[in-house]
Amino acid sequence: MMEWTDRHCRYFLRLISKRALLYTEMVTADAVLRGDRKRLLAFHPAEHPVALQIGGSDPQGLAEAARIGAESGYDEINLNVGCPSDRVQAGRFGACLMAEPELVADLIAAMGASAKVPVTIKCRIGIDDQDGEESLDRFIDAVARGGCRIFILHARKAWLEGLSPKENRDVPPIDYDRVYRMKARRPDLTIIVNGGIGSFGEAADHLTHVDGVMLGRAAYQDPYLLAEVDRHLFDSAEPQPSRLQVLDSFIPYVEAELARGVRLNQMTRHIPGLFHGQPRARAFRRVLAEMAHLDGAGLDVLKAARDVAAGETRRAVAAE
Ligand SMILES: Cc1cc2nc3c(=O)[nH]c(=O)nc-3n(C[C@H](O)[C@H](O)[C@H](O)COP(=O)(O)O)c2cc1C
Repeated sequence: MMEWTDRHCRYFLRLISKRALLYTEMVTADAVLRGDRKRLLAFHPAEHPVALQIGGSDPQGLAEAARIGAESGYDEINLNVGCPSDRVQAGRFGACLMAEPELVADLIAAMGASAKVPVTIKCRIGIDDQDGEESLDRFIDAVARGGCRIFILHARKAWLEGLSPKENRDVPPIDYDRVYRMKARRPDLTIIVNGGIGSFGEAADHLTHVDGVMLGRAAYQDPYLLAEVDRHLFDSAEPQPSRLQVLDSFIPYVEAELARGVRLNQMTRHIPGLFHGQPRARAFRRVLAEMAHLDGAGLDVLKAARDVAAGETRRAVAAE
């Protein structure tokens, strides 16, 4: 998610689940080819498995960007055909490409030919006044012919006229059954459902119909819900870390990144939800909100927030 799932966020989430596949924010193919590639594609080895999401509509550019992404070590390259923003439509990529199945099939084929890792797609169940059944069938069949095996379907249409990107995440009605029908129709494809899934229990219900679940906002706002993933979905025998253990494991990373000149808030802005629903969640969030953005804020602030969350307030008071 743009502005959200940067490398610091992904490192943090990886401390909660070792197995969930993590995705980057969307990066345009142009940015990969012409931008500050080292910065855009940087990730920590601990983030694996991690997928790079790319946006674009030029087969050559996307093929080259996919190759670079795979060679940079990403485990999967994902093409964004779901983003509805105007800026993205103007560049002719994102959700507007759902109207051009054959072009998307060519894009996927070009990317697959140059990247030695799986190339996957994230799309909507339709756009604007497309009919709900035939258009999506046609789109998925074409893209599958282009070589795509893994589809993440955000279970609502994108309305490209008149709705903001934010509204497009909530206003068009959610239709999980449409995604389930796709799985029933194309059992040979890996179908992953996304959109409005708020808990591990809901995710587990979806998994009785489809092959996978992608969580967006819930995983960001209540990241500890990923803690159940390893044991319950991947049969991991490793003990589930507590929230405090997650935070304690984040501290050495933050220390190292601070030493490289990263500001504290760039990292801690991703963690206020860690204690979501817990007794001292608000106090934890408050320490971060009031102190982490200050010039020169260092590890003390994070440790103070940690102690507040743990119910050990002495160091927090001293830090204030
Ligand atoms: C701040 C924000 C940024 C997003 N950026 C992207 C993006 O870069 N690529 C993408 O495929 N989807 C993006 N999305 C959409 C989410 O991936 C997801 O499809 C959508 O929020 C619905 O799922 P959810 O209800 O689990 O959040 C973004 C969503 C949010 C809230």
